Amino acid sequence: MEYKTIIFQIEDALATLTFNRPKALNAISIELLKEFSYILDEIAANETIRVLVLTGSGEKAFVAGADITELAKLNALQAKNFSAQGQRTINKLQNLSIPVIAAVNGYALGGGTEIALASDFIYASDNAVFGLPEITLGLIPGFGGTQRLSRLIGLNRAKEMIFTGKMIKADEAQTIGMVNKVCLPDKLWEEAIKTAKIIAGKGAVSLRAAKQVINNGVNADLITGCQMETDAFALCMASEDAYEGTHAFLAKRSPKFKGRLFYT
Ligand code: CAA
Repeated sequence: MEYKTIIFQIEDALATLTFNRPKALNAISIELLKEFSYILDEIAANETIRVLVLTGSGEKAFVAGADITELAKLNALQAKNFSAQGQRTINKLQNLSIPVIAAVNGYALGGGTEIALASDFIYASDNAVFGLPEITLGLIPGFGGTQRLSRLIGLNRAKEMIFTGKMIKADEAQTIGMVNKVCLPDKLWEEAIKTAKIIAGKGAVSLRAAKQVINNGVNADLITGCQMETDAFALCMASEDAYEGTHAFLAKRSPKFKGRLFYT
């Protein structure tokens, strides 16, 4: 299906999604938000996809936040709906059972940083810029940024960024733990796809289990999180993937995972 604001492609187990409004630095219009939400449902329903990579169109931006031309016209109730719709969509992204890599290729501001934060990890080009500048618009982040940033980098650093609206470059974002890898701009996509393909070659059952246990466990106490891990470990053992992985190791060959549970 063709989208107006997003390029979405699936190649074997790898899905790529490019925010595509380069003239507005890929800002999140209401239309883009709807298309993003629709595509996330499509991804969730497609069992062949094992990994998703996100990026922005053009050389300047990943996503420069919510579209301010639209935002400026909202009344309080419409703003509440917009924020709720954005949060539903970004929660959907975070809750995808497959791993998601954000390849941040320039400005990731406001909603752009919020999308990246809801991904599983971030690779950034060395010209990437992160920030939650909503305070400068007389607003606060509305797509989960106040919550996810403080959980990821700590309350004090998140407060400083949110209160000042300051933008940080990729190397600082890496130092404070937001970004896993910083690449030259022309190597970013290659590096993200290389990692995505490594992930796509792993067992679908164990990938889903690992993501679910990490995401759910982080909001639980350690004992409960470890219990979740035990249950998920057992579930993995009931998969063809675990049989294949362990037997391939013993036979000294590479595993070929099919992502199936045993049905006996
Ligand atoms: N919404 C709408 N249009 C945007 C935009 C946005 N968020 N960001 C950039 N654009 C547009 C500009 O208006 C400009 O359009 P024209 O060529 O038609 O004038 C074009 O993209 C290029 O931008 P600039 O000329 O401003 O480029 P620059 O290099 O001088 O600056 C920038 C780049 C620092 C990213 C600057 O554009 C900027 O500060 N953008 C706004 C960032 C922002 O405040 N984001 C937060 C939005 S609110 C939000 O996201 C709330 C939420 O939680 C969901």
